[in-house]
Amino acid sequence: MGAAMSAQKTVFVKTYGCQMNVYDSERISELLAPAGYSAANSPEDADLIVLNTCHIREKAAEKVYSELGRLRELKALRREAGKDTMVAVAGCVAQAEGAEMRRRAPVVDLVVGPQAYHEFADLIAKARDGRDDVVATEFPARDKFQTLPARRGRQGVAAFLTVQEGCDKFCTFCVVPYTRGAEYSRPVAHLVAEAEALVEGGAREIVLLGQNVNAYHGEGPDGQPWTLARLMGRLAEIPDLARLRYTTSHPHDMHDDLVAAHRHNAKLMPFLHLPVQSGSDRILAAMNRKHTADHYLALVARIRDARPDIALSTDLIVGFPGETDQDFEATVRLVEAVGFAQTYSFKYSPRPGTPAASMASQVPDDVKSERLARLQKLLHDQQTAFNRSCVGRTLPVLFEREGRHPGQLVGRSPYLQAVHAEAPASWVGHTVDVEIVGQGPNSLAGKVLSGGSVTGP
Ligand code: SAH
Ligand code: SF4
Ligand code: F3S
Repeated sequence: MGAAMSAQKTVFVKTYGCQMNVYDSERISELLAPAGYSAANSPEDADLIVLNTCHIREKAAEKVYSELGRLRELKALRREAGKDTMVAVAGCVAQAEGAEMRRRAPVVDLVVGPQAYHEFADLIAKARDGRDDVVATEFPARDKFQTLPARRGRQGVAAFLTVQEGCDKFCTFCVVPYTRGAEYSRPVAHLVAEAEALVEGGAREIVLLGQNVNAYHGEGPDGQPWTLARLMGRLAEIPDLARLRYTTSHPHDMHDDLVAAHRHNAKLMPFLHLPVQSGSDRILAAMNRKHTADHYLALVARIRDARPDIALSTDLIVGFPGETDQDFEATVRLVEAVGFAQTYSFKYSPRPGTPAASMASQVPDDVKSERLARLQKLLHDQQTAFNRSCVGRTLPVLFEREGRHPGQLVGRSPYLQAVHAEAPASWVGHTVDVEIVGQGPNSLAGKVLSGGSVTGP
């Protein structure tokens, strides 16, 4: 490309996986801007294509390789038109596969793991020079966030903020401790500064992210480790910030002060994603989850005592190695006992290098499918029941953007449900009392009360 260095180039970032990848993709786009890259509308128009990948289940990783197959054709087409295309793989597949990726998919020009993406601009320059050292998967000793550009410019109404990354829990089914590395908490002062910049840019809700977010123990301004509850207390002081949420929590790290925050922190929304994985103590032990079904139920009782209307969400795995019909029934009983507002449920997927992948008595796929179908019916019924219970109520909705129909806005209830309602576009970013008048499969229909009062920032 040579002389094209200073010319305007375009980048298309495609994101797979969890919310942290969404956050990372935003940061990658921001850090490529000073290198001359603006956002392309489609991969066809992009000089640089970044796949920010997920390795959590087999299907997630397979998707990346099929996308790379398509990109090989796209790259050839663009070359015929005299255009160069660079393909970068970032995220957890990049970390897990490293240099192997470029052997399996030669279309890949560079590979950059989740802890090394601050080196993106250097890697692009190396790839352009035809160098071979274009794989960055080391875990640096330094805080990568400190070398990223500060947050600037317009933000969405709901913004993500990574406060903690990595995981030391080593659940036996999970790749995350290997792809994201050891647990790390960002210092309070850095997070306050980033949150203020997000709010300055228009964010009104901040979702604090971490693979194990409630294990947060970043350094406070007093030099002491602060808990997540204390961090949220500080962030709640930002005047124009209306709402706080956090995800994903481990039941084992759900300490008293965090439970109490659901009682005391008025900006903390009454919604909690608390993965349980299974209702069988035998399976939970084999998963190395560090909690039993009874611990989980007792914890749910404490949380509901602090915040009676809290909506709970969870993750469940069926067909973990050795799971019997009795174990599965225990999961069904736990789900019935809790009553979830929302859930994610998966068939166990063996991940190379994790302890569970080589355990004896893997469960046949048809058994997994049968159990998943039964569980998902129950979960769907619970979610529908929860949404139905909201019809007729008036809920404060934070409007996030315009809807598909003219004159319509889409926002979120405190319980994270999407709510559609007719309202003026100028109400985006405002919290408004909305009467819930109906429910669809994925959202609620609302009506702004006559003379609808715009509250809060
Ligand atoms: N940090 C979170 C979740 C990370 S991954 C936690 O501690 O729970 C998101 C979800 O993917 C997990 O909660 C789990 O339900 C699911 N998952 C992870 N590894 C899996 C595997 N090998 N097979 C099937 N589901 C898996
Ligand atoms: Fe994976 Fe378990 Fe860590 Fe969650 S707590 S990221 S499931 S190892
Ligand atoms: Fe996937 Fe990595 Fe997130 S494996 S779920 S992108 S931490």
